[in-house]
Parts: sequence; structure tokens; C-alpha cells
Amino acid sequence: MDPDKLMSFVFRAVDEVGATLNTALVVMGDKLGLYQALADGGPLTPADLAARTGIAERYAREWLSAQAAGGFADYDPDSRRYSLSAEQAVALTDRSSPAYLPGLFQIALGSVLDSPRITEAARTGAGIGWHDHVPDVHEGCERFFRLGYNAHLVAEWLPALDGVVAKLQTGAAVADAGCGHGASTLLMAEAFPASTFAGSDYHDGSIATARQRAASAGVGDRTHFEVAPAASFPGHDYDLVTMFDCLHDMGDPVGAARHVRQALAPDGTWMIVEPSVGDQVEDNLNPVGRAYYAFSTLLCTPCSLSQEVGLALGAQAGEARIHEVAASGGFSRFRRVAQTPFNTVYEARP
Ligand SMILES: C[S@@+](CC[C@H](N)C(=O)[O-])C[C@H]1O[C@@H](n2cnc3c(N)ncnc32)[C@H](O)[C@@H]1O
Repeated sequence: MDPDKLMSFVFRAVDEVGATLNTALVVMGDKLGLYQALADGGPLTPADLAARTGIAERYAREWLSAQAAGGFADYDPDSRRYSLSAEQAVALTDRSSPAYLPGLFQIALGSVLDSPRITEAARTGAGIGWHDHVPDVHEGCERFFRLGYNAHLVAEWLPALDGVVAKLQTGAAVADAGCGHGASTLLMAEAFPASTFAGSDYHDGSIATARQRAASAGVGDRTHFEVAPAASFPGHDYDLVTMFDCLHDMGDPVGAARHVRQALAPDGTWMIVEPSVGDQVEDNLNPVGRAYYAFSTLLCTPCSLSQEVGLALGAQAGEARIHEVAASGGFSRFRRVAQTPFNTVYEARP
């Protein structure tokens, strides 16, 4: 046993505990408008921040010090003021930036809040459904994944599919299964006004939110949302069926693939968006892989285990496994068409 290595591991772990606690502080800062106040009016003293946001000064001081200690804000000892750098301000307050982080922290916090139940479920192998989580999981998921869809879906992912954009422009029928709050459905509906979009998800709460989002976005006329599992969503002759970051959450992804196959028009396309990962564990031992394995332990795997079949692909199933699922569902053609650090996009054709 090397005592120096032990101490360096202990200090790394202390940093880790600080990071875990900061997950709650980031969500706190987001919900109370603390980062926004710093971005708008910094540098600020704790009293300034308290006055601008209406929170108690004593909490402002402690929260600000934690942010400065963790590199989430800067501190100037001469003026005793705290500020955000331009980069921190973008990542913590700019909702239009692909680097906007609060949604990722929100889903992480929700996952941690629900972890006692996951710990119990692990003893027996029982599952916990997506519907059974605190709302921070659902909202954080929407807020985080939407960033990638905003940046890539219309500009890169749909054009990478064979012949799909031309169909969408002239008027296609699209089903978005496992759509959650409908972020992907709405983006497509806004970009392709001649097409119609049928979103579905097994979670009724998510579908209720998706309907509200569609009405607020003014695309209620060409979107329709139904509560339905992916293995039986309604409709047929779809030109495009999409699944965004949800195939691996399903209990029976092969059953879902079979259903997509028979719901598609003969020359239709199934677009599968999944986390970006390598096929082997050793390919994923990096920061993104680490976050995904943790989310998979707390959210994705229990969700799949809570459903019939309970295949539990895990968030990092990898291309070979997703290909197998599509082939078992009756798809003869399969290829990877796009990739970002967080998502890989596959095209499956009959
Ligand atoms: C990680 S979320 C992704 C949601 C959405 N597609 C997005 O990208 O924001 C996974 C979604 O899969 C849904 N889901 C899980 N199992 C399902 C099933 N068997 N059928 C339909 N939806 C399912 C969950 O309710 C949840 O909305």
C-alpha cells in the first residue's frame, strides 16, 4: 500500500464530494436566479446578490463562497466581490447555448434524490419506472437533451438520413416514440410545417407537458400526442419514426423495433438517437462515459427493468447491440449517420 497514493485518492474523493454537493447548489442557483443576477450585474457582494434576488444574505454569502471554491464563479479578495467570467455566464445562464449546463445538473440532482429507492431495488433486481421519479428528472432531461437536438437535429441529423428531408419538406407523417416532453417533436414540427408529427410516450405526465409545450409553440395544429408504449403507438404508414435517447430505457426494445417496422411505410426510415459510446466498457472509461454509466444505474436500467421483458440494454449499449435490436425487429439495413460527444444517430431501414 502506497500512503501517497492513498492520500491522493482521498483528496480526489474530497473534490468529488464537493462536486456532488455542488450539483444541489447549481440547481439552487438556477432556480433562485443567482447566476443570472451575477451575469447581469456582477461583480457583486453577497449583500448585492441578496438584494437583487430577494434571498437571505447569509445564504448568498455561503453559496457564493462555494461557487468560487469550485470554479463556478470568480472572487476578488480586494473588493470582496464575486463575478462570472464570460464562459461561466454562457454555461450557467445562456439558454440558447449548446454549453448551457443547468439541465444536466437538474437531472443529476433528481437522480441522486431518488437513489435510496434504487439502492433498495438493487437488492432484488426490481425496476423503477421513468414515471416514478421526481419532476427534476423529467424537466432536467428535457432541458439537457434539447440543447443537442437544437444544435444538430435539423441542421445535421435529419439531412444525414437518406431522402428524409425532401419528404419532410413536401409533407411526411412522422412518429416520435418515447418523446418525453416533446422537445424533439416540436423542433421538427417548427422546421417542417408541411409535415405532421405524432409524439407518444408511456408516461402520461410527460405527454401532458408535451401537449402544453406544443400549444405554446404554436404547432398544436400539426402535432398530436398520445400516451402509448413504443411497442404499440398508434398509426401506420409513417415516413419517419424517431426515438431520441429512449430505446435503451424500454423494457422490450426488440418489441418496439418490431412495432416500428410494421408502423413504417415500405420505404420509411427509423431514426434512433442514442448516447455516444463505444461497444466495450474500456472504450467508455472517460468523463462522458462515467456520467452515462451513473445515469444508467440510477435511471435507464431501473426503467427498463420495471417493464415487461426488462432487457435492460443500459445507456451505453453501443452500436453493435443497437444494430442487433434493429435486426431482430426486422430491419435489414442499419448504419451510423452522425455523432456528437453526447449522441450517436443511427438509420434503420426495412
Ligand atoms: C431519457 S428520456 C428521453 C425523452 C425524450 N425523447 C427526450 O429526448 O427528451 C426517456 C423517455 O423514454 C420513455 N419511455 C421509457 N420506456 C418507454 C416505453 N416502453 N415506451 C415509450 N416510452 C418509454 C420515458 O417515459 C422517457 O420519456
